[in-house]
Amino acid sequence: MSIVVTGATGHLGGLVIQHLLKKVPAHEIIASVRNVEKAEDLANLGIEVRYGDYMDVESMKKSFEGASKVLFISSPDLDDTLRIRQHANVAQAARDAGVKHIAYTGFAFAEESTLPLANVHLASEYAIRSTNIPYTFLRNALYAEVFVNPGLAASVASGELVTNAGTGKLNAVSRNDLALAAATVLTEEGHENKTYNLVNPQPWSFDELAQVLTDVSGKKVEHRSVSFDEMKEYLVNVGLPVPVAEFSAVIYHAISEGETARTTEDLQNLIGTPTSLKEAVKQALQGS
Ligand SMILES: NC(=O)c1ccc[n+]([C@@H]2O[C@H](COP(=O)([O-])OP(=O)(O)OC[C@H]3O[C@@H](n4cnc5c(N)ncnc54)[C@H](OP(=O)(O)O)[C@@H]3O)[C@@H](O)[C@H]2O)c1
Repeated sequence: MSIVVTGATGHLGGLVIQHLLKKVPAHEIIASVRNVEKAEDLANLGIEVRYGDYMDVESMKKSFEGASKVLFISSPDLDDTLRIRQHANVAQAARDAGVKHIAYTGFAFAEESTLPLANVHLASEYAIRSTNIPYTFLRNALYAEVFVNPGLAASVASGELVTNAGTGKLNAVSRNDLALAAATVLTEEGHENKTYNLVNPQPWSFDELAQVLTDVSGKKVEHRSVSFDEMKEYLVNVGLPVPVAEFSAVIYHAISEGETARTTEDLQNLIGTPTSLKEAVKQALQGS
């Protein structure tokens, strides 16, 4: 058996490979990367490193040769139409290389989302379906690290957590838990033609995050809920570029509208109990 992981030099891909190494020998894992030098540490672990660029179908096809399974990690490109083209390239390459099973990292409850990135993931799922390769859609939640990260030390220092998320709940999951779910799907039978919405079974609000920050730090932190425009201005004032500030405010707005409140047991069924909010906050503050 050989399992190809694309995006293997990225955060999620690197974690997936760490989990895979606990389940299968290194010689069964192939890293498909666009920058081979960046993957030296993977090669040192005994993992075969192959060149593959989502912009180049032939290179992806070569990187998939002989693969029984592929984990296709979505591109980080910010241009959504370009991203759809890249993803169609990868689907075409997987088809032409005769891949037996492809798992794709999409976005949870994509059909119901108002976020533009959801369209990229739906288009990519359809491109994969059009190949007739057995698939598993790993529809990932928003990463917990986007919200729970060492930057929270600033909220502890100021005593306030500012968002435009209101009382909306967030089903975010850590990259590590999502990586374990992917490694589980790649090494177990029975996941063909399944769609999993990998979200937190216990969604939390930013009021709850402020309370956990208070409990963990021992310093009172309150959630201050602001408008979309105030949030954008706040983020620009703390140094974020305008497009990033706007994107963050759009995400918080989607949370405020209840878009990320929905949950499933899909993640738990694959990995058991995911990392708790308290544990995530402890880790984030230790890393600050
Ligand atoms: N759920 C969420 O909250 C969330 C948040 C952010 C992103 N995402 C999505 O999840 C994906 C994985 O997340 P991550 O944290 O692992 O992202 P990441 O650390 O940015 O990793 C992205 C990976 O894609 C590779 N890549 C970029 N362009 C490529 C190309 N043209 N051809 C081949 N490989 C290419 C990168 O290679 P290099 O190392 O050479 O750059 C890297 O290995 C992201 O790419 C994005 O689609 C999800």
